[in-house]
Formats: sequence, structure tokens, C-alpha cells
Amino acid sequence: MSRFSTDSIVGIIGAGAMGSGIAQVAAMAGHNVVVYDTNAVALGNSKDKLEKILNRLVEKGKIESVESITSKIIYAANLSALEDCSLIIEAIIENLDIKKKVFADVEAIVSDDCVIATNTSSLSVTSIAAACNKAERVLGLHFFNPAPLMALVEVVPAVQSDDAIVQECKALMSSWKKVPVIAKDTPGFIVNRVARPFYGEAIRMMEEGIADAATIDWAMTEAGGFRMGPFTLTDYIGHDVNYVVTETVFESFFYDPRYKPSFSQKRLLEAGWLGRKTGRGFFNYAEGAAQPEPNKDTVLANNIVARVVVMLINEAVDALHLNIASAEDLELAMTKGVNYPKGLLVWCDEWGADKVLNILDGLYNEYHEDRYRASALLRKAAANGSKFMS
Ligand SMILES: NC(=O)c1ccc[n+]([C@@H]2O[C@H](COP(=O)([O-])OP(=O)(O)OC[C@H]3O[C@@H](n4cnc5c(N)ncnc54)[C@H](O)[C@@H]3O)[C@@H](O)[C@H]2O)c1
Repeated sequence: MSRFSTDSIVGIIGAGAMGSGIAQVAAMAGHNVVVYDTNAVALGNSKDKLEKILNRLVEKGKIESVESITSKIIYAANLSALEDCSLIIEAIIENLDIKKKVFADVEAIVSDDCVIATNTSSLSVTSIAAACNKAERVLGLHFFNPAPLMALVEVVPAVQSDDAIVQECKALMSSWKKVPVIAKDTPGFIVNRVARPFYGEAIRMMEEGIADAATIDWAMTEAGGFRMGPFTLTDYIGHDVNYVVTETVFESFFYDPRYKPSFSQKRLLEAGWLGRKTGRGFFNYAEGAAQPEPNKDTVLANNIVARVVVMLINEAVDALHLNIASAEDLELAMTKGVNYPKGLLVWCDEWGADKVLNILDGLYNEYHEDRYRASALLRKAAANGSKFMS
């Protein structure tokens, strides 16, 4: 019997948004699941919410009955309920000291071959693993929100992780019908690193007065093919979440100016204009509020798209250059994780690395800011006329 056969029990620590979603995924993949949280209210909410979701799945004919899934899940307020698990996925508050304490406590009660994963978005998996005596059993399994709907899982080996365990977990994620990619344990892993300019460069253009938020969003969706414009998307994600990710990535990269957060977004956060959930962000969601009309100038739209897309391509190429992930995994991550219309390396191949480099160097010459420095690998591809994906 493999360590992760469907007879094996999966433990989830934290019954919030992510823990609840991952528990649903594991139970629907056939596992018995134990969900542990210190907060009884969170456990109750998680259970109620899942029942509602499952009822809708029954109506749509996707599952036979609610009980077929709920009967597999136990909700527990006691850590010892996790002792028979083969895999535990932690999804508690994003705080290194608290996560380290939980990992040490968990290790004291589970068997020697239990694998312990963290769903952290921004902390070092290596630091969390260091809290365990058998650190080789620890890795990152980074699901996206909402976990049952988002296919991507970034599998993040800590420096200490056993490669065989990493590969077993990757195979398990495939068996859960997820799309796993391997990402190096560096800030933002793949998606939260490579996607930063989607927000940052859009906000920068707005701050400079090149175009307003409605126009940039229109350009990115209509001319760029993205599902949502950056301002609509950050209003949707919430500026509390999106700004904090940007700030954390910036700090974790030793203040590399490429990842510098913006004052416009910081001020929204300070004003409590967190986006849709508070009724106001970059846009006003109050009933009857007038919505700004975009300027539908196609030349302007193409310039906006070009500026954001070359910045995104540069991030993806640089991530490849620094072995953060393979080319294939970078493409999968950006298409399956954030639903980009195409992978950024393919995009670079289509436009030509020389054209991408030209635009970036043009920005660098104009601003003299390190933010626009091109990756050495992009420069090499432009010089050789080489492609990344073929
Ligand atoms: N929300 C997202 O979009 C998202 C996406 C990917 C990863 N993540 C990561 O997933 C983790 C959880 O995020 P979330 O949005 O689900 O948070 P959340 O606030 O919705 O839920 C966290 C839960 O953990 C519980 N908890 C806190 N401390 C605990 C402890 N010591 N022991 C047991 N339970 C404890 C809380 O009671 C709460 O129910 C974080 O590390 C976050 O960075 C979040």
C-alpha cells in the first residue's frame, strides 16, 4: 500500500478559507480527512459552508450525495486527532513563529513517516521545516483560492526535503486532479513572483497619468486577452491581501526595486477601501455609482499591454534563468494558476525576445530605474534569436 493510497488519512490544520477548500479536495479524491482548528466557530463554519457547496454539486449532478463526502470528514478541536494521518497540510494564519510551533507540536504526535506540508504563500518553507526533527518530511503544497476550483498546486521543496517525498506528493496532487508544478523555495514561489508587474506596472502607469484605471483595465482585457484588468482584479482580491503579498515579496527580495509596492495601493488600504468587499477600492461599488468610461484608443491600449506584458515576460524569463522552475512549469503556473491567456515564455517566443528586450530597454533608458532591468537570459535569447518553448 502506497503511503498516500486513498485508505490513508489526510489531516488539515486550519479550517479557514484554504483549509476548508483543501479538505474538500482531499475528501472528493477519496481520502478520510481530519480537519483540526483551535477555533470551534471556524470548524462549525467550515462544516456548514462545505454542506452548502456539496448541495450545489449534487444539484449539478457532479456528486451523488452530500453524505458521500461529509461522511469522510471529521472536525476536531484537539491536535491528537491528527495522530494517524499520513499527510498533514497546514493552512493556519501566515505567521512564521506560530507555524513553527504547530509543526513541532504535530511532529511530536504523528508517525515517523507522516509527511507534513505547509500551504504558506509567503514564508520560507525551509524555515518552517527547521522546526521539525525530521525536516526531510516537510515541504510546501501551495494551493490557490478557492482550492476546489483552482487547478494549480505549487510543490515547494524545502532545502531539507527528501526528493522522493517531493515526487510522491507531486504524484498525489496529480491523482487529486490538480496540476502540480515544482517551485524553488524563494519569495512568492512562481505565481506570486512572476505576476507582480501585472499589478505594479498597471498602477505605475495610472500614477504617471498615462491612463486611468478603467482604460488600463479595458486595454488589458480587450487588447491583452486577460480575463480581468489589474484594477478590477485587485479590487476583487482585496487590497489588504494583494498589497501585503506585494510588500512581503519586496521585503523578502532584499528590497529589489522590481517588486516595489505603490503608494496608491497603500493609501487605499489605509483608507479601508479594500475593494469589492468594502464597497470601494480603485472603483466604487456602491449601488448606482457612476462607473468611469475607458478611453478606447487602440494605440494607447496596445502600448499599455506591451508595457505590462514585457515586464511579466521578463519576470518569467528571469525565474527560468535563476532555476526557480522549469520552462514547462512556469507556463503551467501562469496559465493554470492565474489564467493568463498564454504562457509568458510562449508569448516571448511569439513577439521575439529582441522586441521584448527593445521595449524593456526603452523603459530603462527613459526612467533609469533598476525596476526595468532586463534579465541576462532575455538578453541572451535576443542576441541568439533563440526561443524558450520550441
Ligand atoms: N486566502 C488565500 O487566498 C490563500 C491562498 C494560498 C495560500 N494561503 C495561505 O493559507 C494559509 C491560510 O490562509 P486562509 O486564507 O485560509 O486563512 P484563514 O484566516 O481563512 O484561516 C486560518 C484558520 O487557521 C486557524 N488557526 C490559526 N492559528 C491556529 C493554530 N495555531 N492551530 C490551529 N488552527 C489555527 C484559524 O482559527 C482559522 O480558522 C496561510 O498560510 C495563507 O498564506 C492563502
